[in-house]
Amino acid sequence: MQTLHLKVDPDNPNPKIIEIAAALIREGETVAFPTETVYGVGANGLDEKAVRNVFKAKGRPLNNPLLMHVMSWEQASSLVTDISEEVLLLVNRFWPGPLTLVARANDKVPPLVTAGLPTVGLRMPDHRVALDLIKAAGVPVAATSANLSGRPSSTSARHVLKDLNGRIAGVLDAGSTGWGIESTILDITRPPFTILRPGAVSRERLEEVLPGLIAATKPGAEERSRLRAAHYRPDARVIPVKPGENLAQLAQAEAARGKRVGVVVVGDQELPTLVDLVVVINGGSAEYGRRLYEIFRLADSRKIEYLFMEIPEETGLGVAVADRIYEAARR
Ligand code: TXA
Ligand code: MG
Repeated sequence: MQTLHLKVDPDNPNPKIIEIAAALIREGETVAFPTETVYGVGANGLDEKAVRNVFKAKGRPLNNPLLMHVMSWEQASSLVTDISEEVLLLVNRFWPGPLTLVARANDKVPPLVTAGLPTVGLRMPDHRVALDLIKAAGVPVAATSANLSGRPSSTSARHVLKDLNGRIAGVLDAGSTGWGIESTILDITRPPFTILRPGAVSRERLEEVLPGLIAATKPGAEERSRLRAAHYRPDARVIPVKPGENLAQLAQAEAARGKRVGVVVVGDQELPTLVDLVVVINGGSAEYGRRLYEIFRLADSRKIEYLFMEIPEETGLGVAVADRIYEAARR
C-alpha cells in the first residue's frame, strides 16, 4: 500500500486536502492525523471491517480497545448511555481537549472498537485538522496512537511514517503535536470517577471542576491491566531515577563498563562525562512531556543500551510523565 503524505496548515487546513483524507475514511481505509497530544491513526468507527484495518496496521492485539474520536458532544453522546450532570461539567470545561471519557457504550458501537468491553472511550481532540477530518468523514473515527504496537507514540508525521509507511492509506501532516503526551483517561461509569491513565489534563485540574469526585488509578483494576498490556518501550533499557539519587554516578558506572549510556536530567545539575547522550529538561514537566517520545526515539537511533531518566516531581503534568517513564522501564 502506498501511504499518501498530505501536508496541511495546522490552523487553517485546506478543505480539499481534508476531503481526500475523509474520503479514504469513508471508503474503509486507515488515516493518520494530528491531535493536540500525539498523532492518531483511525478508521470509520461504525464500520467493523474498517476498524479491523487499524488493528492490522499497528499490529495491535484485538483485545486492546480503540478510542472513538468525535467532533462534538452531540456525536459522542449518540454512542453512550447514562451520562450524569457531573460529566457535562467536565465536557464543558475540557472539551475539545485531552480528556478521554470512558462511558457505557450503546449498541451503535461495534464490539471490535471496545474489544468486547461494555464501555467505550470518547475523545474530542483540540486540533483543527482532526476535527475537520472527523466532520468531513461524517462518522466517529475509531483511533489509537499512530505507532507500531508497543512502540513510543508519534509526535510528528515523520515518526508516523517511520512506523506505519506502507501500512496505512494516508497521513495528514500538520507538524509537531502540542502536548506530546497522551490524553488523560477517566472512567465516568460510576463515582468517584477514576483516572485510568494520567495524561495531559492533571488530576488537580479535574478536581477544580469536581472536588472530591476524582480518584487516582486503582492498581490492579481490570481496565488498568488492559492499559498496561501495551506500554511504551524504547529499545534502550530505561532506568527511572528519583530526584535526590545520584544519576550522574549511576550512569557513569554503566559507561565505565563500556555500555552505551544516555541520561535525561531535570534542571541544572552535575552531568556525567563519557556518556553517549545527554538531554537536559529546563522547562519543567510540560517540556518533559513534549519531548519524551522524541527522546525515546533518539535513544534508539543512537543505539543507547541504558537510558537513565530522572523522574520529575509527581504533581500536575509530572504524574503523566512519571507514569510513561515507569511504563517504559517495565520489562
Ligand atoms: O491522546 C490520546 O489519547 C491519543 C490520541 C491519538 O487521541 N490516543 C491514544 O490512544 O493514546 P491509545 O490507543 O494509544 O491509548 C488508549 C488507551 C489504550 O491503552 C486502551 O487500552 C485504553 O485507552 N482504552 C480504550 N478503551 C478503553 C475502555 N473502554 N476502558 C478502559 N481503557 C480503554
Ligand atoms: Mg498508544
